[in-house]
Amino acid sequence: MSERDDHELRISKIQDGTVIDHIAGGHAPDVLAILGIDGSTDEVVSVGMNVPSDRLGHKDVVKIEGRELSQDEVDVISLIAPAASINIIREYGVAEKHRVERPAVVEGVLSCPNHDCITTDGEPVTSRFEVLDDGVRCAYCETILRENLTEHISV
Ligand code: CTP
Ligand code: ZN
Repeated sequence: MSERDDHELRISKIQDGTVIDHIAGGHAPDVLAILGIDGSTDEVVSVGMNVPSDRLGHKDVVKIEGRELSQDEVDVISLIAPAASINIIREYGVAEKHRVERPAVVEGVLSCPNHDCITTDGEPVTSRFEVLDDGVRCAYCETILRENLTEHISV
Protein backbone atom coordinates (compact mmCIF):
# COMPACT_ATOMS: atom_id res chain seq x y z
CA MET A 1 0.00 0.00 0.00
CA SER A 2 1.42 3.40 -0.93
CA GLU A 3 1.83 6.18 1.59
CA ARG A 4 -0.92 8.10 -0.16
CA ASP A 5 -3.38 5.20 0.11
CA ASP A 6 -2.47 4.89 3.74
CA HIS A 7 -3.37 8.51 4.39
CA GLU A 8 -6.64 8.14 2.53
CA LEU A 9 -7.76 4.92 4.18
CA ARG A 10 -10.65 6.35 6.16
CA ILE A 11 -12.58 3.18 6.76
CA SER A 12 -11.03 -0.07 7.95
CA LYS A 13 -10.60 -3.02 5.62
CA ILE A 14 -13.17 -5.72 6.21
CA GLN A 15 -12.70 -9.46 6.63
CA ASP A 16 -15.66 -10.79 4.67
CA GLY A 17 -18.47 -9.09 2.81
CA THR A 18 -19.02 -6.60 0.01
CA VAL A 19 -17.44 -3.22 -0.75
CA ILE A 20 -19.38 -1.01 -3.15
CA ASP A 21 -16.79 1.47 -4.35
CA HIS A 22 -16.80 4.41 -6.79
CA ILE A 23 -20.37 5.44 -6.01
CA ALA A 24 -20.87 9.04 -7.20
CA GLY A 25 -20.37 11.49 -4.33
CA GLY A 26 -23.48 11.85 -2.18
CA HIS A 27 -25.28 8.74 -3.45
CA ALA A 28 -24.40 6.28 -0.69
CA PRO A 29 -27.83 6.80 0.95
CA ASP A 30 -29.52 5.66 -2.28
CA VAL A 31 -27.41 2.51 -2.29
CA LEU A 32 -28.29 1.87 1.36
CA ALA A 33 -31.98 2.29 0.50
CA ILE A 34 -31.72 -0.22 -2.35
CA LEU A 35 -30.16 -2.74 -0.01
CA GLY A 36 -32.80 -2.13 2.65
CA ILE A 37 -30.16 -0.98 5.11
CA ASP A 38 -31.85 1.34 7.60
CA GLY A 39 -30.08 0.47 10.82
CA SER A 40 -32.86 -1.84 12.00
CA THR A 41 -30.71 -4.98 11.90
CA ASP A 42 -27.37 -5.72 13.54
CA GLU A 43 -25.60 -5.88 10.17
CA VAL A 44 -22.26 -4.05 10.32
CA VAL A 45 -22.07 -1.35 7.63
CA SER A 46 -19.49 1.42 7.07
CA VAL A 47 -20.23 4.39 4.83
CA GLY A 48 -17.75 6.91 3.43
CA MET A 49 -19.19 10.00 1.78
CA ASN A 50 -17.37 12.48 -0.46
CA VAL A 51 -14.06 10.68 -0.04
CA PRO A 52 -11.39 12.13 -2.41
CA SER A 53 -10.96 9.93 -5.51
CA ASP A 54 -8.57 10.20 -8.46
CA ARG A 55 -11.17 8.93 -10.88
CA LEU A 56 -14.34 10.62 -9.68
CA GLY A 57 -13.11 13.67 -7.76
CA HIS A 58 -15.24 12.63 -4.81
CA LYS A 59 -16.81 9.24 -4.28
CA ASP A 60 -18.91 7.38 -1.77
CA VAL A 61 -18.07 3.91 -0.49
CA VAL A 62 -20.29 1.38 1.31
CA LYS A 63 -18.84 -1.65 3.11
CA ILE A 64 -21.19 -4.39 4.26
CA GLU A 65 -19.73 -7.06 6.49
CA GLY A 66 -20.67 -10.72 6.26
CA ARG A 67 -22.91 -10.38 3.19
CA GLU A 68 -22.34 -10.94 -0.52
CA LEU A 69 -24.81 -9.08 -2.72
CA SER A 70 -27.19 -10.90 -5.07
CA GLN A 71 -27.26 -10.17 -8.80
CA ASP A 72 -30.70 -8.51 -8.38
CA GLU A 73 -29.27 -6.10 -5.86
CA VAL A 74 -26.28 -5.33 -8.09
CA ASP A 75 -28.66 -4.71 -11.02
CA VAL A 76 -30.58 -2.00 -9.16
CA ILE A 77 -27.39 -0.44 -7.84
CA SER A 78 -26.27 -0.15 -11.47
CA LEU A 79 -29.30 2.01 -12.25
CA ILE A 80 -28.39 4.69 -9.75
CA ALA A 81 -24.61 4.20 -9.45
CA PRO A 82 -23.41 3.32 -12.98
CA ALA A 83 -19.72 3.86 -12.14
CA ALA A 84 -19.75 1.63 -9.06
CA SER A 85 -17.51 -1.38 -8.60
CA ILE A 86 -18.56 -4.30 -6.45
CA ASN A 87 -15.75 -6.00 -4.54
CA ILE A 88 -16.45 -9.33 -2.85
CA ILE A 89 -14.10 -9.64 0.13
CA ARG A 90 -13.11 -13.01 1.59
CA GLU A 91 -10.55 -13.36 4.38
CA TYR A 92 -9.43 -9.72 3.90
CA GLY A 93 -8.66 -10.19 0.19
CA VAL A 94 -10.57 -8.96 -2.88
CA ALA A 95 -11.92 -12.31 -4.13
CA GLU A 96 -14.01 -10.81 -6.95
CA LYS A 97 -14.23 -7.36 -8.52
CA HIS A 98 -17.09 -6.43 -10.85
CA ARG A 99 -17.92 -3.18 -12.56
CA VAL A 100 -21.67 -2.83 -12.48
CA GLU A 101 -23.36 -3.16 -15.85
CA ARG A 102 -26.71 -1.71 -16.70
CA PRO A 103 -28.99 -4.67 -17.35
CA ALA A 104 -31.47 -4.53 -20.28
CA VAL A 105 -34.28 -5.60 -17.96
CA VAL A 106 -34.83 -5.72 -14.18
CA GLU A 107 -37.30 -8.30 -12.90
CA GLY A 108 -38.95 -8.54 -9.49
CA VAL A 109 -36.95 -5.68 -8.02
CA LEU A 110 -38.99 -2.53 -8.67
CA SER A 111 -42.73 -2.24 -8.18
CA CYS A 112 -44.91 -0.40 -10.70
CA PRO A 113 -46.59 2.76 -9.32
CA ASN A 114 -49.65 2.21 -11.58
CA HIS A 115 -52.33 0.61 -9.37
CA ASP A 116 -54.14 -0.75 -12.45
CA CYS A 117 -50.99 -2.51 -13.67
CA ILE A 118 -51.29 -6.32 -13.79
CA THR A 119 -48.16 -6.53 -11.63
CA THR A 120 -49.78 -4.61 -8.76
CA ASP A 121 -53.43 -5.70 -8.74
CA GLY A 122 -53.00 -8.95 -6.85
CA GLU A 123 -52.13 -11.22 -9.77
CA PRO A 124 -49.01 -13.35 -9.25
CA VAL A 125 -47.10 -11.52 -11.97
CA THR A 126 -43.47 -10.57 -11.37
CA SER A 127 -42.66 -6.96 -12.19
CA ARG A 128 -40.54 -6.38 -15.25
CA PHE A 129 -38.99 -3.08 -16.28
CA GLU A 130 -36.99 -2.34 -19.40
CA VAL A 131 -33.98 -0.12 -18.76
CA LEU A 132 -33.88 3.11 -20.78
CA ASP A 133 -31.05 5.63 -20.97
CA ASP A 134 -32.79 7.90 -18.50
CA GLY A 135 -35.12 5.62 -16.53
CA VAL A 136 -37.05 2.37 -16.67
CA ARG A 137 -40.35 1.39 -18.35
CA CYS A 138 -42.85 -1.18 -17.06
CA ALA A 139 -43.03 -4.01 -19.61
CA TYR A 140 -46.76 -4.48 -18.86
CA CYS A 141 -48.30 -0.99 -18.69
CA GLU A 142 -45.44 1.14 -20.10
CA THR A 143 -45.37 3.46 -17.09
CA ILE A 144 -41.96 5.17 -17.07
CA LEU A 145 -40.01 5.82 -13.88
CA ARG A 146 -37.25 8.41 -14.21
CA GLU A 147 -36.58 9.68 -10.74
CA ASN A 148 -36.59 8.34 -7.21
CA LEU A 149 -36.21 4.74 -8.31
CA THR A 150 -35.26 3.88 -4.77
CA GLU A 151 -38.87 4.57 -3.68
CA HIS A 152 -40.08 1.76 -5.92
CA ILE A 153 -37.77 -0.99 -4.80
CA SER A 154 -39.54 -4.13 -3.66
CA VAL A 155 -36.65 -6.43 -2.71
N1 CTP B 1 -11.32 -3.31 0.73
C1 CTP B 1 -11.80 -3.50 2.03
N2 CTP B 1 -11.40 -4.58 2.76
C2 CTP B 1 -10.52 -5.47 2.27
C3 CTP B 1 -10.01 -5.30 0.95
C4 CTP B 1 -10.43 -4.18 0.19
O1 CTP B 1 -12.61 -2.71 2.51
N3 CTP B 1 -10.15 -6.50 3.02
C5 CTP B 1 -11.81 -2.16 -0.06
C6 CTP B 1 -10.75 -1.14 -0.41
O2 CTP B 1 -10.65 -0.17 0.62
C7 CTP B 1 -11.31 -0.54 -1.69
C8 CTP B 1 -12.07 -1.69 -2.33
O3 CTP B 1 -12.30 -2.65 -1.29
O4 CTP B 1 -12.26 0.48 -1.39
C9 CTP B 1 -11.32 -2.35 -3.46
O5 CTP B 1 -10.06 -2.78 -2.98
P1 CTP B 1 -8.80 -2.83 -3.96
O6 CTP B 1 -9.18 -3.57 -5.20
O7 CTP B 1 -7.65 -3.32 -3.16
O8 CTP B 1 -8.61 -1.28 -4.25
P2 CTP B 1 -8.28 -0.54 -5.62
O9 CTP B 1 -7.21 -1.24 -6.35
O10 CTP B 1 -8.08 0.91 -5.29
O11 CTP B 1 -9.66 -0.71 -6.40
P3 CTP B 1 -10.06 -0.13 -7.84
O12 CTP B 1 -9.02 -0.59 -8.80
O13 CTP B 1 -11.42 -0.75 -8.08
O14 CTP B 1 -10.13 1.36 -7.68
ZN1 ZN C 1 -46.90 -1.37 -14.77
